[in-house]
Amino acid sequence: EKKHKVTIVGSGNWGSTIAKIVAENTRANKDVFEEDVQMWVFEEDVTIAKDSKHYDESIGDAPQKLTHVINKYHENVKYLPGITLPSNIIANPSLVDAVQDSSILIFNLPHQFIRNVCNQIRGKILPFARGISCIKGVNVSDDGVSLFSEWIGDGLSIYVGALSGANIASEIAAEKWSETTIAYDPPPMDNSRAPTPRSQSPGLTMTVTEPPADMQHRDARGRKSKTKLTPVPAEYPPLDHACFHSLFHRPYFHVEMVSDVAGVSLGGALKNIVALAAGFVDGRGWGDNAKAAVMRIGLMEMVKFGKEFFGETVHTATFTESSAGVADLITSCSGGRNFRCARKAVEKGITVDEVEKQDLNGQKLQGTSTAFEVNSFLTARGLEKDYPLLTAVNAILLGKASVDDIPSLVSDTERKQ
Ligand code: NAD
Ligand code: 13P
Repeated sequence: EKKHKVTIVGSGNWGSTIAKIVAENTRANKDVFEEDVQMWVFEEDVTIAKDSKHYDESIGDAPQKLTHVINKYHENVKYLPGITLPSNIIANPSLVDAVQDSSILIFNLPHQFIRNVCNQIRGKILPFARGISCIKGVNVSDDGVSLFSEWIGDGLSIYVGALSGANIASEIAAEKWSETTIAYDPPPMDNSRAPTPRSQSPGLTMTVTEPPADMQHRDARGRKSKTKLTPVPAEYPPLDHACFHSLFHRPYFHVEMVSDVAGVSLGGALKNIVALAAGFVDGRGWGDNAKAAVMRIGLMEMVKFGKEFFGETVHTATFTESSAGVADLITSCSGGRNFRCARKAVEKGITVDEVEKQDLNGQKLQGTSTAFEVNSFLTARGLEKDYPLLTAVNAILLGKASVDDIPSLVSDTERKQ
């Protein structure tokens, strides 16, 4: 039987953390996965700080390739400093080479770069590969709004699920306990495959089910997907919930598997806009009550957005009960980068973009661009007043409103039972 080869597409703060988790699990489940994990790194030169344990007098401040440094010291000194990565992570500067022959592709990079990445690997991956998107954002185009998992899947002609949760990377990299949610709702042809003997209890009779006549996959709006999927060959272990659970679950990273791809993806995207609002009111010195108000209104708008645009498949409980919903909202409004940068911007009287450049050492905020993209989508449909908090955040970022306007801008929000 063949094993699944895994590639992480991306190597930032969260990309490197997910690579660590996945590489620990491929090592622990060598019967299902190839032990080595490819990690595509957007190559750049780095200098190793004098106080780093990897500082080498003979090299000094001379720039070195980030991939070389990761493979030599097993540390991403720029995006996840101080964390030792498993030695079975192979940093690769060639995107096409990194994804070659991989049956599991994990997309984990800031959403602004994913289009370029997909363009480079289209037609160069295994046709039966399956993916998981860890990207927090939504894809907005003239046609409307779509989920990155589906947009990547359609572009590459593969099925892609979504991982999202209350997951501040630095805490998880330090192996502090957290939860996450993985939405994976594969086409019937993947589900229909019989479990392999390995995953069965001894003595259980194995029934081999034929793929159903209708193998058509349905998207997050319940429509028949245009993408023609290639079934996973029978000699590979099934790519099902159990498989992805074993790839991501760690004692310090607890995974819940669900099927609501829209709810999980929208939770991760929209909470970033709410976290900016939480930073704004905190930076203004209004305290915890104002922050809680912003979180309450934000959660309502997240649910409304999901119901209005993905109502065919989305579950309200994903927003109100899962790690990808309310828990991510809380953690992001407590210590996330969007929250921290927005708070500092108000305190210092500078823009969020300026704080991002000054403080994040190349890490990227997702909330600022998502606020703009979601606003364009709502404005094009005359719906911006129905989402007063999401609209207010964009107006503040563009300098068209101030933090002091937030209470009056959101005061019409009614609570519907
Ligand atoms: P990051 O914020 O650390 O971004 C830096 C990464 O972007 C680096 O790997 C860099 O090489 C890459 N990059 C820069 N320019 C590029 C280019 N032109 N093309 C391709 N890549 C380029 O990234 P991250 O924290 O790994 O975030 C990835 C996704 O995960 C985001 O959608 C984010 O919202 C989400 N996320 C982040 C966290 C977190 O705590 N960091 C937690 C959960 C989810
Ligand atoms: P930030 O990108 O705002 O740091 O949020 C991280 C995150 O998604 C926590 O779950």
